[in-house]
Order: sequence, then structure tokens, then C-alpha cells
Amino acid sequence: MRRYCGKINENMVGENITICGWVNSSRNHGGLIFIDLRDYTGIIQIVVNPLNLKAFSNANKVRNEYVIKITGILSIRPKGTINTTKLTGKIEVLANNIEILNISKTPPFQIDEHINVNEDIRLKYRYIDLRRSEMINRFYLRSKILNNIREFLENEGFLNIETPILTRATHEGARDYLIPSRTHCGEFFALPQSPQIFKQLLMISGFDRYYQFAKCFRDEDLRADRQPEFTQIDIEASFIEEKDIMLISEKMISKLFFELINIQLPIFKTIKYSEAIYRYGSDKPDMRIPLELIDITDIIKKVKLQVLREPAYLKDGRVATIIVNGGAKFSRKEIDEYTRFVCSYGAKGLAWIKINNISAPYNEGLQSPIIKFIENIIEELIVRTNAKNGDIIFFCADKKCIVNASMGALRIKLGKDLNLYTSNWSPIWVINFPMFERDDNGKLVSYNHPFTAPICNNIEELRFNPIDKFSRSYDLVINGIELGGGSIRIHDKYLQQAIFEIIGFSKLDYYENFGFFLEALQYGAPPHGGIALGLDRLLMLITGTSSIRDVIAFPKTQKASCLLTKAPNKVSDLQIKELNIKRR
Ligand code: AMO
Ligand code: AMP
Repeated sequence: MRRYCGKINENMVGENITICGWVNSSRNHGGLIFIDLRDYTGIIQIVVNPLNLKAFSNANKVRNEYVIKITGILSIRPKGTINTTKLTGKIEVLANNIEILNISKTPPFQIDEHINVNEDIRLKYRYIDLRRSEMINRFYLRSKILNNIREFLENEGFLNIETPILTRATHEGARDYLIPSRTHCGEFFALPQSPQIFKQLLMISGFDRYYQFAKCFRDEDLRADRQPEFTQIDIEASFIEEKDIMLISEKMISKLFFELINIQLPIFKTIKYSEAIYRYGSDKPDMRIPLELIDITDIIKKVKLQVLREPAYLKDGRVATIIVNGGAKFSRKEIDEYTRFVCSYGAKGLAWIKINNISAPYNEGLQSPIIKFIENIIEELIVRTNAKNGDIIFFCADKKCIVNASMGALRIKLGKDLNLYTSNWSPIWVINFPMFERDDNGKLVSYNHPFTAPICNNIEELRFNPIDKFSRSYDLVINGIELGGGSIRIHDKYLQQAIFEIIGFSKLDYYENFGFFLEALQYGAPPHGGIALGLDRLLMLITGTSSIRDVIAFPKTQKASCLLTKAPNKVSDLQIKELNIKRR
């Protein structure tokens, strides 16, 4: 009977078993040949005795990564040869028969966790990279996660419904991947950035509770946690409110963490977007770090130093501090490094005050390059920040967006550098994002997607002052990573039209792009809402990997290409012609 290397155990000793796999290593020890045989479940040792002529002759021929089939008797290893560091370290298979099923070229790198291989080589030979147990374990977990979630959602009454890949632009905010149509000259499909519109249409159909593991495609600048093609756990439900979707997501994620990695997640906190930005400088705050931004804009208005005073008086200006307990011992070099760090986020500098001795007269116990310019506010500053001896106060003055970005990032960096984490896991809901923001040209655009419901009493109110309006949205953030986001949707045609108009679509534009959807909204659209969680990011979190490529079997590079298949690739003139496209 065929067995799997990692699943063989002492209870099977004495059995005649068959195993298939890859030669991890082989060595000839004084006549006996030892082969470590590997499959996706683990490794087991094979022993081949020279008295067994045919098996021995075949064993002599095998090289690393040869594919072989072995039949033999499972035995306990002799005393002194037991390896307690390995799961199958107490047992071995005494081979009776060895069949070489296929040979292998020498692999471009060793199948070993600790080997340092250039990522391009790993991606080019991904099928070999995927033989490493570190990689196998991740995909094992990925499969378990999908199964766990599917089971949970099915039990909660959600239906798995697939939505098209060849579709229309969905206006999720990124650039679309376009597919030229052969049968409709000059026209294009777009690959979905998410199933957003289709899942809403399914609610109009009355399906009530939908889920899908949805492939999404976004042609955007890639980062460590972004791929052009990724998977969402996509959910939508009818007759629900924010709290319903948030609760079901919490239950789903908590169950998953508990059952798969034995982690009991703490209670999911909730914070409004505006408060998150004000207190943490970020809409995805890492709540494991106990530092907060303390606003001192009003106090700084009273100083003479122009570089600080001026931003404090700006309409969109802000001055914020971070206070670090024990930070008075930072060296000049360390402070310079933190200054360079905040400047990389656009800050013009990082002011600081070391509190050496708070009770010394004439501020003699304070140390700061700008002390003489801020003497008049020192007392107030110390009260506001609650600074104590041994602390350092960092502060930054600029436009709000720069202060929030740079001090928010400094907060994370200090947390990491000083290992300030108060817990391993910290989930939080960030709710009520702005409805709109201005793009680089000052034009109003949706902050999330344009199907998100606003918090307002009526359309007139929304039109009158759109930029100050917030939405019925929620993002799930765990340890500073945006895991997912969703919202209650608009189910009223007139409100949906108003949103399109506010973001600058002409009637012609939105009828052309979304006419079918506006039409659908008129045939009994129920109140509905949903969420999408990034499956790849969930895996990154659970496995503690810093690169999204490590949790996707065949990922793209930072430049959005596949090194294995060499996609994207040039196509023939004939194909181009058939698609009615001209090369430039
Ligand atoms: P959103 O655009 O916020 O919402 O995406 C939801 C989640 O998908 C993941 N994600 C990504 N993962 C890897 N690579 C990417 N390029 C990438 N982009 C997004 C993130 C993110 O939180 N239709 C809405 C959801 C809804 O409103 O229901 C949507 O797509 O984890
Ligand atoms: P300067 O006068 O430019 O040499 O700046 C004096 C001090 O103020 C230095 O420590 C700078 O790092 C700091 N600084 C300058 N601009 C800002 C700013 N916008 N916010 C906070 N600190 C600043």
C-alpha cells in the first residue's frame, strides 16, 4: 500500500510499505546506501543492503531529485542511529525494491530552507522552490484556510457564486488590465479589480448571502504586500448593517486563527477613521504599539521659531509629538537617523527635547537645539505630553498629511526599534472613512469605491458639502496591516447617480459605464453591504512573511512579470491583426 513519507510512524513498524518521492540526499556508508526520500508530507530514511543486488544497483544510480518508488519493510532504527530532531527519526525503511521513475538534472539550488538563493532564480524555477518544506507548509496552510472559511460561510448560509473574469471596468481605483475583443472590433474587456458590481447584482437577484474566493486584477504600483493578481475572500449580504458584516468577519477570522494556529484573538476594537489619523497618524494603526501622536498645534502657535510657527497657523497644518519613555538616552546619531527617517516621508525636520531633569531651574534640565526658541511654551508642552525625566519629546510641524504620514511611520519604527509591542495580535476596525478625497489635480474622487453609502440625511446635504462627508465603511486592520475593507452600499438609484455626478461623471458617462447598474437598482434592490478580505495578506500575517510572493504559488515580480513562463510576452502579427490592433 502506498504511504506518504511524513505520515509513516512507529505504529506501522513491520509493515511492507510502498513510498514514492524525490531523493533529498543519498550517501554510501561502508556498504549500506542511505537515501532520504521526500514527498510533500516529509522525509523518511531508506536503507539499502548490498545483499539485495538489484535494489542496491538502482540505489547506486540515484542522484538528488531523482523520482523513485520504493517497497520495503518499516523498521526501528538501530540504537545510536536514532535522530530525535526529525519526526521520522526513529524509523527507516529497509528497501526490497527500488524503481527509478524519472531522473533529474542537478537542480539550480539545493532544496534547503537555510540556503540563500536569489529570488529571481527561485521564481524562475518555482516548481523546485515549492519543494522546500517552508514553502510546502505555507500552501498547506493556504488550502486549510480556504477550507475553514468555506465551511464557516456555508454554515452561515452563504452561497458560493462565481462572477465573470471577462467583464467591464469596475472603478475600484486602480488601473485596469484590458483584453481586446476579437469579435467586437476596437472594444475591450477589463479584468475585474473586484467582483463589486456583480456581488451587488446578486443581492438584487435576491441571493441574500454570497461569497467567493475571487481573483482580482489591478495594474498598480506593486509593493511588498501587493500583487497585480490576488485573491479576495469576497462577501456580500442583504438586509444587514455595518455591525452584522463586522461580526460575521470577526467570527470567521477568530475561528480561523484558533483552529489553524491555536491563537485566541483578543476582542476586535473599533475606531473612527478621523480618530485613527489624529491619534496614530494612520488609517491602519498597529495597535500593538503603545505610542500615540499628541497634538500641540495650539501650543506651537505661541512660539517665535518660524519653521514651527508657520505650519501651526496653516489651515491644513498640524504639529504633533511622540513621546518616548527613556528616549533621553538616544545618541545624536540615533536622533539624526530618526530625523532622516521622517524626512523620507516629506517632513522638513524632527524637533526634539530631552527631559533630563524636569525640576532643574531655568530649563537647565532640558536639552534641545531649539530650547531658547520655545522657552515660553515648555511648561505647557510638558503638561500636555505628560513627559517625565528620561523621556524624549519628538515633534514635527507641517501640513497635516505630512505630519500624519511621517509621525505615523515614526511611531511604527520606534515600536519596532525599541520592541515596545504589548501583544502579539491586535485586530481593530477602522470605520467611517471620508466619502471623497481630492486627487493630485484637485478633482473629487471616491475615497473607497463609488458604491459606498454616505452618512448623511439626504442628497442635497451631500451635494452641498461632499468633502466633509464620511461613509458607512469599515476596514479590518490586524497588526498594522489592512486585511480587508467593505461598506454598506447605495441601493437607491438617485443617490448612486448623485455620487457619480459629485465625482465628475457626466450623465452620458455614467449611463454609458453604469447604465445597466442604475437600471438594476430600480428593480427592487435590497439594502445590502459586504466586505472583501485579502487572502494573500491573511496568509502573510499568519505565516509572518514579509513578502506577498512567498504565499502565492506562482507570483509576479515587482515589475509584474512571471519569470517562469516569461509572461507577458510578445504575440504574433496574426494575433494582433485578428484583434484589430495596430502596433505603435
Ligand atoms: P479593497 O480594494 O479595499 O476593497 O480590497 C480588499 C482587500 O483586498 C486586498 N488587496 C490586495 N491584496 C494583494 N494585492 C493587491 N494589489 C491588493 N489590493 C487589495 C487587501 C484589501 O484590504 N470591492 C471592495 C470590497 C468591498 O467593498 O466589499 C474592494 O475590493 O487585503
Ligand atoms: P533649522 O532652523 O531648519 O535648522 O531647524 C531647527 C530645528 O528644528 C532642527 O532640529 C530641525 O530638525 C527642526 N525642524 C525644522 N523644521 C521642522 C519642522 N517642520 N517640524 C519639526 N521640526 C523641524
